[in-house]
Parts: sequence; C-alpha cells; structure tokens
Amino acid sequence: MKDIKFIYKDALISWDEIKDTAGGLSHYVEHLSVVASDFNEKEINYEEAESSINLPFDKEAYEKVKEVAEKTRTKFLKYIIIVGIGGSNLGTKAVVDGVRGTIDSFLGADKEIPKIIFAGTTSPKLLDGIRKILKENIETPEEVLVNVVSKSGTTTETIANFEIIYSFLKERFGNEETIKNRIVVTTDYESELWKIADLRGFELLAVPKNVGGRYSIFSAVGLFPLMLAGVNTERLLEGARTMREICIKKDLSDNPALISAVLIFLHNKKDVSINNTFFFNPHFESVGRWYRQLMGESIGKKYSTDDREVNVGITPIISVGSADLHSMAQLYLGGPKDKFTTFVYAPEDSKEVIVPKDIIFPGLVEGVEGKELGTIMDAIFRGAKEAYKKDGLPFVEVILKDTGEYTLGQFLQFKMIEMMYLARLFEVNAFDQPNVEDYKRVTRRILHEGE
Ligand code: PA5
Repeated sequence: MKDIKFIYKDALISWDEIKDTAGGLSHYVEHLSVVASDFNEKEINYEEAESSINLPFDKEAYEKVKEVAEKTRTKFLKYIIIVGIGGSNLGTKAVVDGVRGTIDSFLGADKEIPKIIFAGTTSPKLLDGIRKILKENIETPEEVLVNVVSKSGTTTETIANFEIIYSFLKERFGNEETIKNRIVVTTDYESELWKIADLRGFELLAVPKNVGGRYSIFSAVGLFPLMLAGVNTERLLEGARTMREICIKKDLSDNPALISAVLIFLHNKKDVSINNTFFFNPHFESVGRWYRQLMGESIGKKYSTDDREVNVGITPIISVGSADLHSMAQLYLGGPKDKFTTFVYAPEDSKEVIVPKDIIFPGLVEGVEGKELGTIMDAIFRGAKEAYKKDGLPFVEVILKDTGEYTLGQFLQFKMIEMMYLARLFEVNAFDQPNVEDYKRVTRRILHEGE
C-alpha cells in the first residue's frame, strides 16, 4: 500500500483485542472475495448487496459512460449542472474538490475544463443563480449539460430542481429539440424516471440495481460528470481496483479497512462514540461530507439484521485542518474524551508558495521566513498529533501520497469497504436507509395532498 499509509499505533487498542474482534468477521471477508468479480469475468456480479466493490472492474459500464460523454462533450462546454442529492452528488463533489481544489470554481469556466454546478438542495438562491448563468453566461445549448442523477427517480428535490432548470433552458433557447440532447439522466434501469426520460429522447445511464447512492461513486453516477469535467477517471478506477484487492485480504495485518473498522467499533463500545475525520488538506472537506453520509446512513439503524430493535449509530463529524484547530481544538483536547479521530493528510507540493525570506512582519512568528507552505502545514499537523498524544486521545492516521485521482480512488474504496465491515460488527444492514425513505415518502404525500 505504497500510496496510502494507515498508521494505528496511537489508537490505544492492543493488537490481541483487534485480532479477536476481526476474527468474528473472517466469514464476511471470505464472502467479499466470493462477491468480487474481476476483469476476466464475462458478467460482473451485481446480485449481492456488496456489489459496489465490482464497479471499478465493469468495463462495459465504463465504455457506455465514455460513449455518452463523447456524444455530449462539445468543444464549447462550459457548465455541467448535476441535479441530484445525497448519494447522487456527494461522491462527485468529493472527487472534483479533492482533485482540483475548491479554488477551481474561481478560476473561470473555459472550454478546456468545464465547471460543475451542484444543484442539490432546493435553494431559491442557488436556482436563481443558475437562471442568471444560463441567461447571461452562455450563448448556445452546447455550452451546458444537465445531468439528472437519481437512483430512485422520485426524489422531490431532484425532480423539482430539474423541472425548474429545464424551464430556464426552454425559456432561453425556445426550441425543445435543441436542448433535448443536453440532458443526460442517470437512474435505475427501467425506473419511472428512466421510462419518461426515454420517451423524451434524453440520454440514459443506468445505476446497477444493488448499488445504493452512497456506494455509487464508481458507477455512472460519478464517472459520467467526472469524465466530462476532465477528471482522470481511469486513474480513479485503477486506484479503487488496487485498494479493493487489499481490503478483501484475509490477513488482518494487510487489510487496513478491516483494522480501521475494528478500531472504530471497539472505541464505540468503550463510549468513544463520536467519529471525527480530521482532514489536513482543506479541499478534502467534501470527501468528509461524502464519508459522513456513508457512516451516518450505513450504521445509524433502528433494527439489526435479525430484526431486534437496537438503535445503534456513530455520530460522524468532519474537521478541517488547520482552520478547525482554531475553532474546535479546545473542545477536542479539553472536552469529553468521546471522540475517535482519523487524521487524513496528503503532503502537498508547495515549491511555488513560499513565505519570502524578507518579510513584512519580522519577529511575530519565529522561523516562518523562507519556509514552503507545505513545511508549515507539516509542522501544524505534527503539532496537532502531539497534542492528541499528550492528552491520551485515540487516533489513527491515513497518510496519502498526493491528492491525485489514483490516490483518491484508493481512499474512497478503502472507506466503503471499511463501512461494510463496520456494519457487520454492529449487526446492521450497511446498504439500506429506511428512515430516509420515511421522510421522502411523507414529503411526497404532503406535496400531493397540498397540506
Ligand atoms: O443514500 C441514500 O440512499 C440517499 O442519500 C440518496 O442518495 C438520496 O436520498 C438521493 O436519492 P436518489 O438517488 O434516489 O434521488
């Protein structure tokens, strides 16, 4: 695992304890190897709940995404609007921000690197902004592509946002024929949305049946907009493939997903019930939001897999270094010892960003002059870890080689398989979200009845 180092010496749990708990998962590790398809198999296995581990090996699905991307990528494309929420957009945002950095959206939309606009929640301000962009910043339909992403096809926010955006496009360009090929719909094969979109003549991409939103980043859900936006999806998938092989290994000491799951679980049993993922690359905040959903929805359950009422869950929080050291560290270091922390850090190349030798404010911060920004971040990261150690707070570290596609693909795959192990330890279903469905159903009923 050259590109990702998982360091757990400060987790404050003995190897024997880790081994004992992991032992209970040996059948499940075996099961994942049985589920795992690879390139040589004729048909990718999408029959099992864990099928998402096969997405990076699905050549046919990748070719289909490529075909639609080639058809819809014009040399004028400036904006890709993703209409989707939760599992249908968090992974894409995690990768775009992770690879490009959040500054990207300020660098101006040009034909080389189209910008992604996320129309997730139903926000009048956001939609009005999109209206202005469509009205003032684009001249032809070829400059925009709308990707509606909804596994179920019945999510209120997504459908409402799409209808509004479509009406803006109609208003702007009049003729529906000219905008029809600027819409791509990603949904379950033969969902109601699929059927209507097909009748309308929109391009369609399928989400495999047993792949839920929060595990779908390596399906068309993530791959299509990422490919269109110029992210290196081949490297992303290569990273995911490498990591899948590592995370289904039987040998515990070689399997970081298994160790990480066990550590989170054992701490939770000791009332260290908050899980803090502390990113030291600020543009990984979106990766944190993706992980928050993954953990929140996979583990937070009322019933166990054998139908006992258990009400389990881990509260995931995200912190961003170094900003949150200046807002949350007081609580983390001085407050209740109820948090298990995973520090995630990719040292960044900073040869171009150096504090000058001749500085304006000499003597205020000793030793800052002439230092690369990366060296300063390293020092802050080490300082934070030392403080945690001093206070006996449990943590692990995930050190990434860089913030490129290959490494990020590995990280996302590592965390998804970790979550499958963790759910198994809690004896809950990692793949459903019955209570989210409850809220979605009631919203639809209220709108339908006009209460
Ligand atoms: O994980 C989940 O299932 C949810 O967060 C969904 O991703 C979210 O509600 C969007 O659902 P859909 O893709 O069906 O529109």
